[in-house]
Amino acid sequence: MNVVIIGAQWGDEGKGKIVDYLASDAQIVVRFSGGANAGHTIVRSGEKFALHLVPSGILYPDKVVVLGSGMVIDPEALFRELEMLESKGIDWKGRVLISDRAHIVLPRYSQMDREAEARRIKPIGTTGRGIGIAYAQKASRDGIRVADLDDPDRLANLTDEDRRFVETWAGQLLPLKIDLAAFLREHRNAWRLFEGAQGALLDIDTGTYPFVSSGMSCAAGSAAPGGIGPRHIDRILGVFKAYTTRVGNGPFPTEFSDDSPGSLSQYIRTVGNEYGTTTGRPRRCGYLDLVALRYACTVNSIDRLVLTHIDVYDGLDEFEACVAYRIGDRITQDFPASIRDLARAEPVLKRFSGWKTSLSGCLSYDELPLRAKEYIEFIEDFTETPVSIVSVGSDRAQTIVRESPWIR
Ligand code: IMP
Repeated sequence: MNVVIIGAQWGDEGKGKIVDYLASDAQIVVRFSGGANAGHTIVRSGEKFALHLVPSGILYPDKVVVLGSGMVIDPEALFRELEMLESKGIDWKGRVLISDRAHIVLPRYSQMDREAEARRIKPIGTTGRGIGIAYAQKASRDGIRVADLDDPDRLANLTDEDRRFVETWAGQLLPLKIDLAAFLREHRNAWRLFEGAQGALLDIDTGTYPFVSSGMSCAAGSAAPGGIGPRHIDRILGVFKAYTTRVGNGPFPTEFSDDSPGSLSQYIRTVGNEYGTTTGRPRRCGYLDLVALRYACTVNSIDRLVLTHIDVYDGLDEFEACVAYRIGDRITQDFPASIRDLARAEPVLKRFSGWKTSLSGCLSYDELPLRAKEYIEFIEDFTETPVSIVSVGSDRAQTIVRESPWIR
């Protein structure tokens, strides 16, 4: 069975925790896109793990994790992460595999990324990890894949410096190399999780272009870049937070205009620890944008939503959520492609009453206070998508499963 998990907003929705949680029932976890720009945080028994390249199932001793074909891999960052895991007692050897179709991020790409940003009148606010450059090299057919590392003809195209770098790492990368399609065919009866990076609104096609990342963070990215055919996807989960955050630049219709000390924006950033896992940048905060979420559900065929960070609202008397955009003199519930329209979209807000009690100890949906359930049910009605999992804290135990994704 194949379950896909993507972010349904602008990334940082808590996918790492949810993949880690659901991986207990899976045998294989495939991360299908992105690179070291991603930051997936997992808290286990109070210990925090920040993963950037290694799929989130790695903390279980018996799971096999695969860096998929759609990924762009910085070997230095990968082996730094593997060393970090080893230093914390996680034995990864024999369990971390890399698709032979994944691309390599060369050291000079970070500098090129920063230079491209400096040339932009309105920078994207990239993570500076060379991700956009790696995908551009891939699209222009100048990239180097893991499969090319022992092919002298392919390496002949590289400069001496690039070739030296690639040859330095080939010895460590090649033993991890697999033919992903063949591997998944061989393990066709295993339960497999396909882990996306970033979020649907940062996807190169469906996101707020050009303020997006360069990989496929949409559900469709789990197919070719993940190594399976699209007909074999059984379930698609979209993870979203009770509010919205964004790092980097780009339109964000529900962003709080006031970010001064004591503001709601700062409250959410502090309580929700909304700082980038990869860059440490403070995340921009705003109310839940249901227009954007419904769009994400539609273009990704999301079967079930996973709500995270709802406990961040525990202390609020009331809060709002966006149910439409006012763009000029028209009201719409559709998510526009035009950056100009999105930038001038004013959110039409609906008010909700807070529950003023801690959700962190709730073990079942029935234990949630009525007002929290009302908020969840409104989201379900608006998006026409059931919320099947509710996360009420960062620990694995703080997860309410209303319906397992592993049931067909
Ligand atoms: P890049 O992926 O480094 O090229 O950055 C492009 C945009 O995507 C920037 O706005 C980044 O802040 C954003 N971004 C990239 N990766 C993540 C992520 O894992 N979470 C949230 N935002 C991200």
